[in-house]
Amino acid sequence: MGPVGLVKLSGGDEVTNPDGFGSRETDSQNYVHNPVMVSEVLNYISMAPIGMVVDATVGLGGHAAQILEAISSSTLLGLDRDADALALAQTNLGKFEGRFRLVNQPFSAIAEEVTRAQTSGFASAGPVVILADLGVSSMQLDDSSRGFSIRNEGPLDMRMDRASDVSAERILNEASFDELFHLLRDQDEPHARRIAQAVVEHRPFATTTELALAIEKVVPYHMRRGRIHPATRTFQAIRIAVNSEGSELDRLLLDGIELLVQGGIFVVISYHSGEDRATKRAFLSASTGGCVCPKALGCVCGAVSLGEVLTRGAKLPTSAEISGNPRSRSARLRAFRRGGGS
Ligand SMILES: C[S@@+](CC[C@H](N)C(=O)[O-])C[C@H]1O[C@@H](n2cnc3c(N)ncnc32)[C@H](O)[C@@H]1O
Repeated sequence: MGPVGLVKLSGGDEVTNPDGFGSRETDSQNYVHNPVMVSEVLNYISMAPIGMVVDATVGLGGHAAQILEAISSSTLLGLDRDADALALAQTNLGKFEGRFRLVNQPFSAIAEEVTRAQTSGFASAGPVVILADLGVSSMQLDDSSRGFSIRNEGPLDMRMDRASDVSAERILNEASFDELFHLLRDQDEPHARRIAQAVVEHRPFATTTELALAIEKVVPYHMRRGRIHPATRTFQAIRIAVNSEGSELDRLLLDGIELLVQGGIFVVISYHSGEDRATKRAFLSASTGGCVCPKALGCVCGAVSLGEVLTRGAKLPTSAEISGNPRSRSARLRAFRRGGGS
């Protein structure tokens, strides 16, 4: 059984998600628990040895509860940079007391936290599983005071870690035109130039609604009437910048692969193409050891493979899952098994 009385619809990327779920309760007592692609996650991690699982994005503990329930001999180290989420996870995982430890750290600190878990006796070896369910949680998205959502008016915040001093407001009001243009273009925003121009002309912005309206005014007319809000990619681009999501993920992928014990499994669930590309690239490069020798000649460069990619293409949620949890629709799961190389 999962956490009682909590709704957690994980997978909170608005880019590919339709309207219609913006009005969920933000009161955590009313949250229902619904983590993404659970059976696929459990299926992959059932291949791992028994030991410490690291949930790098523990959120409200949705996946963590399922893992602790399914593998009764496992222990779990959960990381999240959002202290509010961790407080809820601590309660939600209450029945597993003694088998989990939660730390308020970014997942780029995974190496230090794994070492700490070992030296303090929580774990006797490195992780047997690393799970990363990327992006924002529904709790973050639905709480208008966090400023993640286009549809709920709130301050332009978007910090997962509320102790950080970089907010969306700061980036929008202080970045140069060029910086904004590149942020947007990197997220494949087709109207990056116009939007960056509009931001520079109409700032300062204080709320999500002010920003969304300014963007609506400058995009072509047909986009204002579409199913996807025209400010969606801008919100995503700013969120990624506020939380340094690109460099965080690169670090996690690199260190995570190194840290896994032999036979250990790494599962990543992404919600936009940038995350999925980075995951695919990191897993592929670890499996080849970086070798680019022509296949016909065989490897002559001495590269050492660190393991094998378990997913040929990214795995997608089933249509039944998508209809029950629309926020799962953009999920892409990739898995990797650590071999013996180092
Ligand atoms: C989609 S939610 C995970 C939900 C979780 N799997 C569950 O079932 O409850 C993503 C979580 O990752 C956290 N997060 C995102 N980037 C992070 C990072 N770089 N370091 C640590 N936590 C991060 C967010 O704060 C959020 O709580």
